[in-house]
Amino acid sequence: MTKTIAVIRGDGIGPEIMAATLKVLDALDCGLDYAFVDAGMVALEKHGELLPQATLDAIVNHGVALKGPLTTPIGKGFSSLNVALRKHFDLYANVRPAISFPGTKARYENIDIVTVRENTEGAYLQEGQMVSPDGEIAQSIVRNTRHGASRIVRHAFELAVRKGRKKVTAVHKANIIKTASGLFLDVARDIAKDYPQVAFNEMIVDNTCMQLVMNPWQFDVIVTTNLFGDILSDLCAGLVGGLGLAPGANIGKDVAIFEAVHGSAPDIAGKNVADPCALLLAAAEMLDHLDMAEKATRIRSTIRATLEAHDRITPDLGGSGTTESFAQALVERVRA
Ligand SMILES: NC(=O)c1ccc[n+]([C@@H]2O[C@H](COP(=O)([O-])OP(=O)(O)OC[C@H]3O[C@@H](n4cnc5c(N)ncnc54)[C@H](O)[C@@H]3O)[C@@H](O)[C@H]2O)c1
Repeated sequence: MTKTIAVIRGDGIGPEIMAATLKVLDALDCGLDYAFVDAGMVALEKHGELLPQATLDAIVNHGVALKGPLTTPIGKGFSSLNVALRKHFDLYANVRPAISFPGTKARYENIDIVTVRENTEGAYLQEGQMVSPDGEIAQSIVRNTRHGASRIVRHAFELAVRKGRKKVTAVHKANIIKTASGLFLDVARDIAKDYPQVAFNEMIVDNTCMQLVMNPWQFDVIVTTNLFGDILSDLCAGLVGGLGLAPGANIGKDVAIFEAVHGSAPDIAGKNVADPCALLLAAAEMLDHLDMAEKATRIRSTIRATLEAHDRITPDLGGSGTTESFAQALVERVRA
């Protein structure tokens, strides 16, 4: 059966890495059809708006989108298109795997950590922000809800069960932020009881940072609130060599958007040197979401084998290949 997904090629290097990614998906024979829609600068030029209604409609209709990076124009009304998409579709779970790959400039090996970050509330609320008229006091509020905490913690445990993961760590600061972080921790403790097959522990966020640097292998799935998740997921990306191989998923009840964590890289756009791995790994997350786990695993193992062989890989990975030659190397392995 064919499944149609919405595809946003994106800005800057977006079209190049998307072409490479779709080439590999096609070689894998995933039975996917693509509904191409625009967002970002391309959409602004073509349709006069950054996020056209037709794009939002396509994402709703197909339920799943693969998205290239979008350039956020400075001073054009949107704080970020990604934030706008998150809000519009209530994409409450930001899932960021950090996996070691061979041949990358990473300080650690054999890392496999997934951060599940609450994406809609916590410290990132627009409302409640205030600066006093004299500019001396600035204030913002942190608000977590039982509903928000429940759905993100449940998402983390369900992910753990589905992917055969062994442990979920709830990261918090309930010792100091007793209300907002305390609520999150209470909910996490309660929901953990529904999943006796998955080990559960809790850790204060500052200690978590230290533990991630000193002994990252103790972590499996991390679930946490918005601000802590934002920081910890980048820390985890740093453990495996930075954003070059970092995919992200934004998941809501009805819609999920998969993307690379990196931006549109205007400095190398159009030069055919962009590394397509992060978007490809996001596509692997998407295939997992679409119940094509075996194909998802094939993408990861193909990237691993191609990196190990140092075969036509892009300059950021220490090679002298191009986006196109790297994609070709991946396709040849998929077909072998
Ligand atoms: N998810 C998104 O859509 C997203 C995320 C972050 C930034 N952005 C936007 O992207 C634009 C540029 O942001 P930035 O320069 O701060 O960050 P960036 O991630 O685009 O680039 C940072 C550095 O990493 C390199 N790089 C990034 N991706 C690469 C790839 N696939 N292969 C090889 N090198 C790569 C770039 O060349 C650059 O030197 C901004 O408009 C920003 O708002 C979008």
